[in-house]
Amino acid sequence: MSKPVILTGLRANNDLHLGNYLGALLPMVDMANKQAGEHQINLFVPDLHSFTTPIDHSKLYQQSIDNVKVFVATGLHIGHENVHIYRQSFIPAHSELAIILNSFVGVGEMERMTQYKEKIASSVEKEREFAKHLEELFRKNINENNEVNDAVERMTQYKKRIKINEKKYLSQQKYMQSLSDIVLETEKGDIFNIEVKSKKDIGPSVGLFDYPVLMAADILLYGASYVPVGDDQTQHLEFTRNIAERMNKKFGELFVVPNPVAEQHKFFGKDQGLRIRDLLDPNKKMSKSDDTGKGVIFLSDKPEEAAKKVMSATTDSLNKIALDFEKQPGVSNLLQIHALLSGETLDAVTKHHGGETNYSDLKKEVAEQVKEFLNDFQAKLSAVNEHEVIKKLEASEAEMNRQANETLAKVQKAVGLRK
Ligand code: TYM
Repeated sequence: MSKPVILTGLRANNDLHLGNYLGALLPMVDMANKQAGEHQINLFVPDLHSFTTPIDHSKLYQQSIDNVKVFVATGLHIGHENVHIYRQSFIPAHSELAIILNSFVGVGEMERMTQYKEKIASSVEKEREFAKHLEELFRKNINENNEVNDAVERMTQYKKRIKINEKKYLSQQKYMQSLSDIVLETEKGDIFNIEVKSKKDIGPSVGLFDYPVLMAADILLYGASYVPVGDDQTQHLEFTRNIAERMNKKFGELFVVPNPVAEQHKFFGKDQGLRIRDLLDPNKKMSKSDDTGKGVIFLSDKPEEAAKKVMSATTDSLNKIALDFEKQPGVSNLLQIHALLSGETLDAVTKHHGGETNYSDLKKEVAEQVKEFLNDFQAKLSAVNEHEVIKKLEASEAEMNRQANETLAKVQKAVGLRK
């Protein structure tokens, strides 16, 4: 009988950060090393998912391999026969199952995904700033050049268009189009000397919109029961369960439905998914898409610089150390990082610092820990043998193609594509 599968993926953007490490990588590697006897462990690089954010395509291939090296530097025993590491795009069944599942998923379901909504909101915000910038340029030029008589009228028109489009989320591309059209249409458009970047910018992609379906395919192809992920992916896991149940109901037992998220947390010994927060804005998660990177500890950061980021972390003015993610998110985040890096419980770390009335000792300790951690991790990473990693990847990919194709064939038959 085949073993229950534990599976997770980390995108290949070569900028993995402490949130990825503590939230997903470390628990997964611990789990892999402890459970590889009883379970099949799948740890993969979702390289097709990398396109959902802008990347340097010339680097992607090597970055996928570098990501696998990060798994090994974290302590994954790739010599174990039940441990599989692979790249998503090397197993075409992922894409094919996603295409099939697409037709059984509602547009509304995808629109409700928090991660998608957040990305859209932040891009609308950027466009709004761009529009403001354009407006200022228009105004300046109207004052300086009386000849541009109809500019005010055009301004009013495009503002209306922005409003309508923004409401529709779909807007971005059309709305950027209308902005650039206005600039280009305006006879004196060139005097504004505006760089019309919008024509090239397609806005949020269909790939981003559809991302959870590909993620569901990643999980369902191997019948994974457990999927250790950070808190931000919980909704995608719930969606995976829904689509699996929906397909099973319609076509008979096709998929193993992953365990309910609460049960998974129990299995991994936690009460909830982990969320490491941005050091400068502890109300949001630490994320690779952060533009400045100042609140994010990247695994590739120079240890000294990372320590400085910790020292500049935003805290609060309550002057007491307590674990309260609502009222003291910055301090609680530091306590959390402290506990995870030292292997102590959060309770123990909180008690240890409880009663302190300023934050500098806690910051210094965490800064020192982060520095040590990065020194150690980076040394391990540079010692990873790439040749061995590639050999393991090729062996795993052959086996994963076999397993994934079995599930895909079942699905193809069920939906009528094969006899
Ligand atoms: P990705 O690459 O954005 O993140 C990888 C893992 O890191 C976790 N994570 C965090 N955990 C705690 N605190 C944070 N600040 C933090 N930021 C990220 C994420 O929850 C994730 O577990 N969709 C996935 C990749 C994926 C996948 C899959 C995962 C594709 N297919 C199938 C599991 C199963 C993603 O974008 O993760």
